[in-house]
Amino acid sequence: MRKPIIAGNWKMFKTRDEALQFIYAVNEKVPSIKEVDSVICAPFTVLRCLAKRQGENLRIGAQNMHYADNGAFTGEVSADMLTCVNVEYVIIGHSERRAMFNETDEAINKKLHTAFAKDLKPILCVGEELSQRESGKTETVIGNQLKLDLAGLSSEDVANLVIAYEPIWAIGTGKTATAEMANETCGFIRQTVASLYSKEVADKLRIQYGGSVKPANIKELMAQEHIDGALIGGASLIPDDFLFMVKAAVK
Ligand code: 13P
Repeated sequence: MRKPIIAGNWKMFKTRDEALQFIYAVNEKVPSIKEVDSVICAPFTVLRCLAKRQGENLRIGAQNMHYADNGAFTGEVSADMLTCVNVEYVIIGHSERRAMFNETDEAINKKLHTAFAKDLKPILCVGEELSQRESGKTETVIGNQLKLDLAGLSSEDVANLVIAYEPIWAIGTGKTATAEMANETCGFIRQTVASLYSKEVADKLRIQYGGSVKPANIKELMAQEHIDGALIGGASLIPDDFLFMVKAAVK
């Protein structure tokens, strides 16, 4: 059985004081890590202050990193810079980074290799645009992303990977994919990983759905066969909502 994983993606929200308020509100109330992995992916500036205060059941993640060990990359942050402040997870290839910061599948693939080499736990995001879904290209688009993003990764790495399926048209729009639609595409992701690796690897892989997840729809999403968790933007900023969704994920 796969352990559920709920991750908040705070995007560019929360100053230090706001982040502290959040962690003090949820820390003692997060369910046991034996039952569910709970993660907050926060802006770089608050990672250290959150990691210092994280309770035993909460884990901290970044939203991006560079693939190089170090170098003249103004404005970037390396894997070692994250692990040295006890960051455990990192989101790789979010659609906002692909679309607004020109992140390519080639760079995403390098970032995944680096994350595994440095013992960070990556959450790889894939997903299609509305026009691609409407023209029946969802599986082609996501199949290509997976082939390029996972290139050269070992079976062991992929078995430990978390993939977030985030249809771009459902992000921040209030439009959630129906649970059946989300499950169908998550099932396609699992099947693609089975064909690239093996059924054993695909059965271990955890797949999240992301895109307007909120307390009102988390239970229905989590009840689906191929959905092992959620990557949550807006609703993860509110302590009570985050806690509700983590608790709803416990099987
Ligand atoms: P929302 O939950 O705000 O739609 O954002 C989804 C997302 O992009 C999480 O990474």
